[in-house]
Amino acid sequence: MVKGLKKLPKHIGFIIDGNGRWAKERGQTRSMGHKAGFRNLERIIKECFYTYGIPVVSIYAFSTENWNRPQKEVDYLMQLFRQCINEEFRDKYPNVRLNIMGDHTRLDKDLSDACAKVMVETKDITEFTLNLGINYSGKAELTYAFNQMAEEGLKNITAEDIDNHLYTKGQPPLDFCVRTSGENRLSNFMLWQIAYAELYFPEVHWPAFNKRDLYTALKVYQGRDRRFGAIKE
Ligand code: FPP
Repeated sequence: MVKGLKKLPKHIGFIIDGNGRWAKERGQTRSMGHKAGFRNLERIIKECFYTYGIPVVSIYAFSTENWNRPQKEVDYLMQLFRQCINEEFRDKYPNVRLNIMGDHTRLDKDLSDACAKVMVETKDITEFTLNLGINYSGKAELTYAFNQMAEEGLKNITAEDIDNHLYTKGQPPLDFCVRTSGENRLSNFMLWQIAYAELYFPEVHWPAFNKRDLYTALKVYQGRDRRFGAIKE
């Protein structure tokens, strides 16, 4: 039992929203918001893994729709990914398998190669997994899975077949999804894996979502009655 929490999710997801609004409230640029959001991401991911022992963490970092943002903002976000993946990942996240969700080949070649390299280097780690959604959307993931199954000639497709063709193959489904900044929507995040997840929408903007907010979120999760469509006798 960690810090009085009895029931923890095996798989937690974060839709990290509100970097821009956080910056605007402080008279700062959107890039400053992303920089603060990036720093916070590291704090919260580490807290999930190393304080609470949650084995799988999924982050919606850059969606397939985020390419439509101004080029300057996209470039800045790509620079942050570069920093995370190139220089820091193995040192900052020991015992963590990196799993990029999304087609990373659409990124600049150096970044795509770096993603592939870290994924290969960490592929046998079983303790913790970080699913990083980059150029990711739930619909794109499902489309990719269906096309793979079609190519393999699969017939009478089962839910298990679909599980096995997603980026999260072999992982538990999402138990708990946190979206910061007060919007109550999923925005195309892990549409299959989220089927029975508990959802939580705190008002706080992502850069300000701190360790105490994570604890509060996990307390909320603990209080949820998960029935998976069944009833209690
Ligand atoms: C949402 O805030 C945030 C994003 C679209 C990008 C978040 C990405 C990072 C912080 C960098 C991630 C780094 C790694 C290592 C993957 P918003 O800009 O939509 O906020 P707003 O809705 O208030 O404008």
